[in-house]
Amino acid sequence: MTRIVVTLSWVLVFTLFSTQIFGQTNNVYLRADSLLKWMTLKEKVGQLNQYNDDWDATGPVTVDPNKAEQVQNGEVGSLLNCVTVQRTRKWQSIAMQSRLKIPLLFGQDVIHGYKTTFPIPLGESCSWDLDAIGRSERVAATEASAAGVHWTFAPMVDITRDPRWGRVMEGSGEDPYLGSLIAAARVKGFQGEHLGETNALMACAKHFAAYGAAVGGRDYNSVDMSGRLLREVYLPPFKAAVDAGVATLMTSFNDINGVPSTGNKELLTQILRKEWGFTGFVVSDWGSVGEMVNHGNVASDYEAALSAINAGCDMDMESRCYRNHLEKLVMEGLVSSAAVDEAVRRILVKKFELGLFEDPYRFCNEERERKALNNPEHTAMAREMARKSIVLLKNENHLLPLSPTLKNIAVIGPMVMAVNQNKGFWDVNVPGVDSNLIVTWWEGISARVSRETRLHYALGCGFDGESRKGFGEALAIAQQADVVLFTMGERRDMSGEARSRSNIGIPGVQEELLELLLKTGKPVVVLISAGRPLVFNYTADHAPAILYTWWLGSEAGNAIADVLFGDYNPSAKLTMTFPRSVGQIPIYYSHFNTGRPAQNDSDRFYRSAYTDLSIHPKYEFGYGLSYTTFRYGNLEINRKQFQKGDVVVVKVTVSNTGSFDGEEIVQLYIRDLVGSISRPVSELKDFAKVSLKKGESKTITFNLDAAKLSFFDQNAKPVLEPGHFAVMVGASSADIRLQDRIELMK
Ligand code: BGC
Repeated sequence: MTRIVVTLSWVLVFTLFSTQIFGQTNNVYLRADSLLKWMTLKEKVGQLNQYNDDWDATGPVTVDPNKAEQVQNGEVGSLLNCVTVQRTRKWQSIAMQSRLKIPLLFGQDVIHGYKTTFPIPLGESCSWDLDAIGRSERVAATEASAAGVHWTFAPMVDITRDPRWGRVMEGSGEDPYLGSLIAAARVKGFQGEHLGETNALMACAKHFAAYGAAVGGRDYNSVDMSGRLLREVYLPPFKAAVDAGVATLMTSFNDINGVPSTGNKELLTQILRKEWGFTGFVVSDWGSVGEMVNHGNVASDYEAALSAINAGCDMDMESRCYRNHLEKLVMEGLVSSAAVDEAVRRILVKKFELGLFEDPYRFCNEERERKALNNPEHTAMAREMARKSIVLLKNENHLLPLSPTLKNIAVIGPMVMAVNQNKGFWDVNVPGVDSNLIVTWWEGISARVSRETRLHYALGCGFDGESRKGFGEALAIAQQADVVLFTMGERRDMSGEARSRSNIGIPGVQEELLELLLKTGKPVVVLISAGRPLVFNYTADHAPAILYTWWLGSEAGNAIADVLFGDYNPSAKLTMTFPRSVGQIPIYYSHFNTGRPAQNDSDRFYRSAYTDLSIHPKYEFGYGLSYTTFRYGNLEINRKQFQKGDVVVVKVTVSNTGSFDGEEIVQLYIRDLVGSISRPVSELKDFAKVSLKKGESKTITFNLDAAKLSFFDQNAKPVLEPGHFAVMVGASSADIRLQDRIELMK
């Protein structure tokens, strides 16, 4: 009799959580609740536990030979670094042997593409093209989800103002306004229409919070900052991701004012859940629960687990603190069962939303995987994104674009033949997919030039090292050439996680070779590959043409050729300020004025800068050239005096005055002229990327409303203060073409 009752109960519970009896996704909460009732504490803790699959590792490895057994016992909720249909199916089938058959979630760092690799995110951000960025994430999501992955640990939305920090390559640069828009575009791109579609990938906004402000740009370092700065600069992209429906957030490694993010209740519960209404779940960063012991604010893993769960960190990535201590903490009454249930519920809800209870293998279809990973539309998107990410920094005497019928072109440097370098730091190690899919620069250029053109190649030198052995050969081919293309920069493992650099100059002897190449008198186009703003004053001052290419991904060679030969007119603009020297860091456009603002380099007393450097950066935020030129005119503002509820409409006419069709990123900045506290000299508040044919003019409309003019006061509370604001429209943060004033009335 008891057996019959138990069996009947099982039928009932499985009907509830494994079928679509409730149909609609908003009942996933009911389904999660009914499942929770059947779970033991051990099984609940299991859902909060995430392990690395042994296929690849993106953090310090813990040897654990019993993972399969733990999955089979329902003690693991998620795996990371587990890709391909074959591998995810294998693990899921083990999870299906567990008592409650709760499916695993597979998470992966799909940071700039899965198989089709896109430019590094910092490069993509320079396109200021929200639509293209969204579409590139759609491609990444389509490929990854077809390969069994449910969840990407992206977008990285940390504001980055220190180029020594290796992880600037993963973000969208220094500006909170642009960063927020890109964060939302990426989230929507990854997640698609809604979770539950088989091509939707759960997104994860990371690293919450302020990881980009690590002292000295040293990775994992502490952050010390006011609540005002945190709210105004570092949190907005996270808020934007939450508003865009991001499914998950990841905590950051750093502490803020002494409190590690992973145990930071103010961040994870007060701000994230209570103020912003976030309903998804929070995962720790790799090992960051246990690392609180090193931070020194807890004494043991046991205390670390206590601190993290009570702060609001739902899932423990790889530290095993929850696994080893949470049950005991509940039994001892230090953690409430309700807190554990809530964390588990948030995770189960996502599993329900993904449809994994209907079919745990719904992302495991070999045919779909094969098709998604061999889709020419994805390649086309990668090429579009790559050429939109290339920034033209200098172009003296219209050296670029080149004619594809030149007789002799010398192509020199370490990127020319490089294959994997194009992938950047966070490429996904997809088993069975080899690097031949990458179009090298040599291949791209060769495919574009005329039959009569002779291309000459020499390595010249490596990215780093002291060897000058290749100089002779490089100079010899340069002498015969009509134009020299010299590629230089960083190796892809020089920027990324744990890749901070104290010297961000061009490594090795690359600039030395450039000096010799320039001495030949031949026109030299320099192409710089990097994951961060580098310092390259010699190159900037002497080379006649410079393209900053970041790392461009699968279609790098074709994109480079598109730009070099004018099939695409460069339109990208920098999203991080380029310093003149490391000593100038931190440097960003949206700074305060100080009491003694320098007007020019010779001011003696009014120098809030350095005596041995210009007051200006090398290249400012928003800077980037085109093969054509643009004129700005007719600034019109619909109301110069306005009230709180009004929208101020700003119009400007932009004309293409050069001899190429092109795109211009028109930027609108404001300055709050007098505030109850100092306000930045300039803040981006709107922009438009406009496409203009030769001779064409267009009127662009911007909107300013109260939300864009408010700020956080000293108590980190939002305020909107009446008074005057400068409205500035320009081609970069320093190249303001038109300006006027508006006044918010009392
Ligand atoms: C990184 C995260 C990443 C995680 C998993 C950590 O070391 O900080 O950004 O998502 O590893 O690979």
